[in-house]
Amino acid sequence: MPAQREVILNVNVLDVGFHPSAWRAPDLHPTSFIDPDYYAEVAKIAERGTLDALFLADGPALREDPAVKPTRALEPTTVLGVVASATEHLGLIGTASTTFNDPFDLADRFLSLDVVSGGRVAWNVVTTFHAGTAHNFGLSRIPDREARYHRASEFVDVVTALWESAATRVPVHHDGEFFHVHGVLPVPPSPQGRPLLVQAGGSPQGRTLAGRSADAVFSAELTLDAGRQHYRQVKDVARAAGRDPGSVKILPGLVTVVGSTEAEAIARYEDWE
Ligand SMILES: Cc1cc2nc3c(=O)[nH]c(=O)nc-3n(C[C@H](O)[C@H](O)[C@H](O)COP(=O)(O)O)c2cc1C
Repeated sequence: MPAQREVILNVNVLDVGFHPSAWRAPDLHPTSFIDPDYYAEVAKIAERGTLDALFLADGPALREDPAVKPTRALEPTTVLGVVASATEHLGLIGTASTTFNDPFDLADRFLSLDVVSGGRVAWNVVTTFHAGTAHNFGLSRIPDREARYHRASEFVDVVTALWESAATRVPVHHDGEFFHVHGVLPVPPSPQGRPLLVQAGGSPQGRTLAGRSADAVFSAELTLDAGRQHYRQVKDVARAAGRDPGSVKILPGLVTVVGSTEAEAIARYEDWE
Protein backbone atom coordinates (compact mmCIF):
# COMPACT_ATOMS: atom_id res chain seq x y z
CA MET A 1 0.00 0.00 0.00
CA PRO A 2 1.43 3.44 -0.84
CA ALA A 3 2.42 5.62 2.11
CA GLN A 4 -0.38 7.90 3.18
CA ARG A 5 0.22 11.43 1.95
CA GLU A 6 -1.35 14.52 3.39
CA VAL A 7 -1.96 17.92 1.94
CA ILE A 8 -1.77 21.03 4.12
CA LEU A 9 -4.44 23.63 3.36
CA ASN A 10 -4.18 27.17 4.68
CA VAL A 11 -6.10 30.33 3.89
CA ASN A 12 -4.16 33.52 3.18
CA VAL A 13 -6.51 36.33 4.17
CA LEU A 14 -5.55 39.28 2.00
CA ASP A 15 -7.70 42.06 3.43
CA VAL A 16 -11.07 41.58 1.75
CA GLY A 17 -9.79 39.58 -1.21
CA PHE A 18 -7.07 38.97 -3.76
CA HIS A 19 -8.64 41.03 -6.51
CA PRO A 20 -7.81 44.77 -6.29
CA SER A 21 -11.48 45.73 -6.48
CA ALA A 22 -12.77 42.97 -4.18
CA TRP A 23 -13.58 45.61 -1.55
CA ARG A 24 -16.22 46.99 -3.92
CA ALA A 25 -18.03 43.66 -4.28
CA PRO A 26 -21.68 44.05 -3.25
CA ASP A 27 -21.57 41.11 -0.82
CA LEU A 28 -18.58 42.44 1.11
CA HIS A 29 -18.26 45.31 3.50
CA PRO A 30 -15.47 47.66 2.36
CA THR A 31 -14.18 48.17 5.91
CA SER A 32 -14.05 44.47 6.81
CA PHE A 33 -10.27 44.62 6.72
CA ILE A 34 -10.24 46.64 9.95
CA ASP A 35 -13.01 44.64 11.62
CA PRO A 36 -11.79 41.94 14.06
CA ASP A 37 -15.09 40.08 13.64
CA TYR A 38 -14.35 39.66 9.93
CA TYR A 39 -11.12 37.77 10.67
CA ALA A 40 -12.83 35.74 13.39
CA GLU A 41 -15.59 34.78 10.95
CA VAL A 42 -13.17 33.77 8.18
CA ALA A 43 -11.21 31.74 10.74
CA LYS A 44 -14.31 29.94 11.99
CA ILE A 45 -15.26 29.04 8.41
CA ALA A 46 -11.71 27.80 7.79
CA GLU A 47 -11.78 25.70 10.94
CA ARG A 48 -15.19 24.27 10.10
CA GLY A 49 -13.82 23.38 6.66
CA THR A 50 -10.93 21.49 8.35
CA LEU A 51 -8.27 23.81 6.98
CA ASP A 52 -4.95 23.71 8.81
CA ALA A 53 -4.15 27.38 9.33
CA LEU A 54 -4.93 31.00 8.64
CA PHE A 55 -2.07 33.07 7.22
CA LEU A 56 -1.61 36.82 7.53
CA ALA A 57 0.90 39.00 5.68
CA ASP A 58 2.62 41.96 7.26
CA GLY A 59 3.14 45.39 5.73
CA PRO A 60 4.88 47.97 7.89
CA ALA A 61 4.32 50.73 5.30
CA LEU A 62 1.45 51.99 3.14
CA ARG A 63 1.76 50.33 -0.26
CA GLU A 64 -1.36 51.35 -2.06
CA ASP A 65 -3.35 54.50 -2.26
CA PRO A 66 -6.06 54.10 0.39
CA ALA A 67 -8.27 56.43 -1.62
CA VAL A 68 -8.37 53.78 -4.34
CA LYS A 69 -8.16 50.53 -2.38
CA PRO A 70 -8.15 49.84 1.33
CA THR A 71 -4.93 48.16 2.29
CA ARG A 72 -3.93 46.06 5.25
CA ALA A 73 -4.10 48.02 8.46
CA LEU A 74 -4.00 45.69 11.44
CA GLU A 75 -0.73 44.15 12.56
CA PRO A 76 -0.88 40.32 12.11
CA THR A 77 -0.13 39.08 15.65
CA THR A 78 -2.88 41.29 17.06
CA VAL A 79 -5.42 39.89 14.59
CA LEU A 80 -4.19 36.36 15.29
CA GLY A 81 -4.94 36.91 18.99
CA VAL A 82 -8.57 37.55 18.02
CA VAL A 83 -8.54 34.54 15.68
CA ALA A 84 -7.06 32.36 18.45
CA SER A 85 -9.89 33.13 20.83
CA ALA A 86 -12.52 32.58 18.10
CA THR A 87 -11.22 29.10 17.19
CA GLU A 88 -10.01 25.92 18.86
CA HIS A 89 -7.42 24.22 16.73
CA LEU A 90 -6.80 26.31 13.59
CA GLY A 91 -3.10 27.11 13.04
CA LEU A 92 -2.13 30.79 13.17
CA ILE A 93 0.63 31.96 10.81
CA GLY A 94 1.80 35.55 11.20
CA THR A 95 4.34 37.35 9.06
CA ALA A 96 7.04 39.53 10.59
CA SER A 97 10.16 41.06 9.10
CA THR A 98 13.72 40.29 10.16
CA THR A 99 14.87 43.60 8.67
CA PHE A 100 12.54 45.75 10.76
CA ASN A 101 12.21 43.96 14.09
CA ASP A 102 14.39 43.01 17.01
CA PRO A 103 14.89 39.29 17.77
CA PHE A 104 14.03 39.54 21.46
CA ASP A 105 10.80 41.45 20.91
CA LEU A 106 9.73 39.16 18.08
CA ALA A 107 10.57 35.98 20.06
CA ASP A 108 8.61 37.38 23.02
CA ARG A 109 5.56 38.31 20.91
CA PHE A 110 5.31 35.06 18.96
CA LEU A 111 5.99 32.72 21.87
CA SER A 112 3.45 34.61 24.01
CA LEU A 113 0.87 34.19 21.25
CA ASP A 114 1.82 30.53 20.98
CA VAL A 115 1.25 30.09 24.73
CA VAL A 116 -2.12 31.86 24.85
CA SER A 117 -3.37 30.02 21.74
CA GLY A 118 -2.45 26.60 23.12
CA GLY A 119 0.48 26.05 20.73
CA ARG A 120 -0.95 26.94 17.31
CA VAL A 121 1.42 29.63 16.06
CA ALA A 122 3.94 29.90 13.25
CA TRP A 123 6.15 32.84 12.35
CA ASN A 124 6.42 33.56 8.62
CA VAL A 125 9.94 34.92 8.21
CA VAL A 126 10.27 37.67 5.59
CA THR A 127 13.01 40.17 4.91
CA THR A 128 10.80 42.95 3.40
CA PHE A 129 11.71 44.14 -0.08
CA HIS A 130 9.40 47.18 -0.12
CA ALA A 131 11.60 50.28 -0.44
CA GLY A 132 9.17 52.67 1.27
CA THR A 133 9.28 50.70 4.52
CA ALA A 134 12.87 51.78 5.15
CA HIS A 135 11.76 55.38 5.66
CA ASN A 136 9.56 54.32 8.57
CA PHE A 137 12.59 52.89 10.34
CA GLY A 138 15.19 55.63 9.93
CA LEU A 139 16.89 54.16 6.87
CA SER A 140 17.37 56.12 3.68
CA ARG A 141 17.03 52.97 1.56
CA ILE A 142 16.17 49.29 1.90
CA PRO A 143 19.27 47.09 2.44
CA ASP A 144 20.00 44.90 -0.59
CA ARG A 145 18.83 41.28 -0.64
CA GLU A 146 22.19 39.80 0.33
CA ALA A 147 22.40 42.06 3.38
CA ARG A 148 18.77 41.39 4.36
CA TYR A 149 19.19 37.63 4.29
CA HIS A 150 22.53 37.86 6.08
CA ARG A 151 20.74 39.57 8.96
CA ALA A 152 17.75 37.21 8.64
CA SER A 153 19.94 34.16 9.13
CA GLU A 154 21.40 35.47 12.40
CA PHE A 155 17.99 36.81 13.44
CA VAL A 156 16.36 33.38 13.10
CA ASP A 157 19.20 31.76 15.07
CA VAL A 158 18.75 34.24 17.93
CA VAL A 159 14.96 33.86 17.99
CA THR A 160 15.14 30.06 18.09
CA ALA A 161 17.83 30.20 20.79
CA LEU A 162 15.58 32.50 22.85
CA TRP A 163 12.63 30.12 22.41
CA GLU A 164 14.87 27.29 23.56
CA SER A 165 15.92 29.35 26.59
CA ALA A 166 12.25 29.73 27.49
CA ALA A 167 12.01 25.95 27.77
CA THR A 168 15.38 25.20 29.38
CA ARG A 169 15.93 28.42 31.40
CA VAL A 170 19.53 28.24 30.21
CA PRO A 171 20.60 31.74 29.18
CA VAL A 172 21.41 32.57 25.57
CA HIS A 173 24.93 33.94 25.05
CA HIS A 174 24.98 35.34 21.58
CA ASP A 175 27.54 37.82 20.23
CA GLY A 176 27.09 38.01 16.48
CA GLU A 177 27.47 40.48 13.66
CA PHE A 178 24.09 42.11 14.17
CA PHE A 179 22.90 41.11 17.63
CA HIS A 180 24.21 40.77 21.16
CA VAL A 181 21.78 38.90 23.36
CA HIS A 182 22.51 37.54 26.82
CA GLY A 183 19.63 36.22 28.86
CA VAL A 184 16.52 34.09 29.10
CA LEU A 185 13.17 34.77 27.44
CA PRO A 186 10.74 35.18 30.35
CA VAL A 187 7.86 33.30 28.71
CA PRO A 188 6.82 29.72 29.47
CA PRO A 189 7.31 27.17 26.68
CA SER A 190 4.19 26.61 24.63
CA PRO A 191 2.40 23.26 24.34
CA GLN A 192 4.15 22.73 20.98
CA GLY A 193 7.50 23.81 22.44
CA ARG A 194 8.00 26.82 20.19
CA PRO A 195 6.24 28.45 17.22
CA LEU A 196 6.88 26.83 13.85
CA LEU A 197 8.93 28.67 11.25
CA VAL A 198 7.52 29.43 7.81
CA GLN A 199 9.48 31.19 5.06
CA ALA A 200 8.11 33.01 2.04
CA GLY A 201 10.98 34.43 -0.05
CA GLY A 202 11.65 32.83 -3.42
CA SER A 203 15.24 33.94 -4.15
CA PRO A 204 18.23 31.58 -3.80
CA GLN A 205 18.96 33.27 -0.45
CA GLY A 206 15.36 32.72 0.65
CA ARG A 207 15.47 29.06 -0.34
CA THR A 208 18.70 28.59 1.59
CA LEU A 209 17.19 30.13 4.72
CA ALA A 210 14.13 27.90 4.31
CA GLY A 211 16.13 24.71 3.83
CA ARG A 212 18.29 25.49 6.83
CA SER A 213 15.60 26.45 9.30
CA ALA A 214 11.97 26.49 8.13
CA ASP A 215 9.26 23.97 8.97
CA ALA A 216 7.29 25.12 5.92
CA VAL A 217 7.73 27.27 2.82
CA PHE A 218 5.02 29.41 1.28
CA SER A 219 5.98 29.42 -2.41
CA ALA A 220 4.47 31.44 -5.22
CA GLU A 221 5.97 29.91 -8.36
CA LEU A 222 3.98 30.42 -11.52
CA THR A 223 4.93 27.30 -13.50
CA LEU A 224 5.17 23.62 -12.64
CA ASP A 225 8.87 23.52 -13.55
CA ALA A 226 9.68 26.51 -11.37
CA GLY A 227 7.69 24.94 -8.54
CA ARG A 228 9.56 21.66 -8.85
CA GLN A 229 12.90 23.43 -8.89
CA HIS A 230 11.97 25.44 -5.79
CA TYR A 231 10.90 22.24 -4.03
CA ARG A 232 14.12 20.42 -4.94
CA GLN A 233 16.39 23.27 -3.91
CA VAL A 234 14.79 23.65 -0.48
CA LYS A 235 14.95 19.91 0.14
CA ASP A 236 18.60 19.77 -1.02
CA VAL A 237 19.59 22.55 1.37
CA ALA A 238 17.75 20.80 4.20
CA ARG A 239 19.56 17.52 3.46
CA ALA A 240 22.95 19.28 3.25
CA ALA A 241 22.21 20.92 6.62
CA GLY A 242 21.67 17.50 8.18
CA ARG A 243 17.90 17.84 8.40
CA ASP A 244 15.26 15.38 7.29
CA PRO A 245 14.06 16.91 3.98
CA GLY A 246 10.57 15.67 4.82
CA SER A 247 10.50 18.03 7.80
CA VAL A 248 10.24 21.06 5.46
CA LYS A 249 6.75 21.23 3.98
CA ILE A 250 6.24 23.11 0.72
CA LEU A 251 3.00 25.10 0.52
CA PRO A 252 2.40 26.44 -3.00
CA GLY A 253 0.09 29.44 -3.29
CA LEU A 254 -3.15 28.95 -5.17
CA VAL A 255 -5.67 31.60 -6.15
CA THR A 256 -9.15 30.17 -5.98
CA VAL A 257 -12.48 31.44 -7.24
CA VAL A 258 -15.19 29.84 -5.15
CA GLY A 259 -18.80 29.28 -6.15
CA SER A 260 -21.56 26.87 -5.19
CA THR A 261 -21.30 25.39 -8.67
CA GLU A 262 -18.64 25.44 -11.37
CA ALA A 263 -20.85 27.73 -13.47
CA GLU A 264 -21.18 30.16 -10.57
CA ALA A 265 -17.41 30.20 -10.05
CA ILE A 266 -16.81 30.83 -13.77
CA ALA A 267 -19.38 33.62 -13.77
CA ARG A 268 -17.73 35.21 -10.76
CA TYR A 269 -14.30 34.94 -12.38
CA GLU A 270 -15.57 36.51 -15.59
CA ASP A 271 -17.25 39.25 -13.65
CA TRP A 272 -13.82 40.24 -12.33
CA GLU A 273 -12.10 40.39 -15.69
C1 LIG B 1 3.42 33.70 -0.49
C2 LIG B 1 4.28 34.87 -0.11
C3 LIG B 1 3.88 35.69 0.93
C4 LIG B 1 4.66 36.79 1.29
N1 LIG B 1 4.28 37.60 2.31
C5 LIG B 1 5.06 38.67 2.61
C6 LIG B 1 4.70 39.52 3.66
O1 LIG B 1 3.68 39.35 4.30
N2 LIG B 1 5.52 40.57 3.94
C7 LIG B 1 6.66 40.81 3.23
O2 LIG B 1 7.36 41.77 3.52
N3 LIG B 1 7.01 40.02 2.21
C8 LIG B 1 6.26 38.96 1.91
N4 LIG B 1 6.62 38.15 0.90
C9 LIG B 1 7.78 38.53 0.12
C10 LIG B 1 9.01 37.82 0.52
O3 LIG B 1 9.38 38.14 1.82
C11 LIG B 1 10.15 38.19 -0.37
O4 LIG B 1 10.60 39.48 -0.06
C12 LIG B 1 9.81 38.17 -1.82
O5 LIG B 1 9.14 36.99 -2.12
C13 LIG B 1 11.07 38.21 -2.59
O6 LIG B 1 11.78 37.08 -2.20
P1 LIG B 1 13.27 37.17 -2.04
O7 LIG B 1 13.60 38.39 -1.22
O8 LIG B 1 13.70 35.89 -1.40
O9 LIG B 1 13.75 37.31 -3.43
C14 LIG B 1 5.85 37.05 0.57
C15 LIG B 1 6.24 36.21 -0.48
C16 LIG B 1 5.47 35.12 -0.80
C17 LIG B 1 5.94 34.24 -1.92
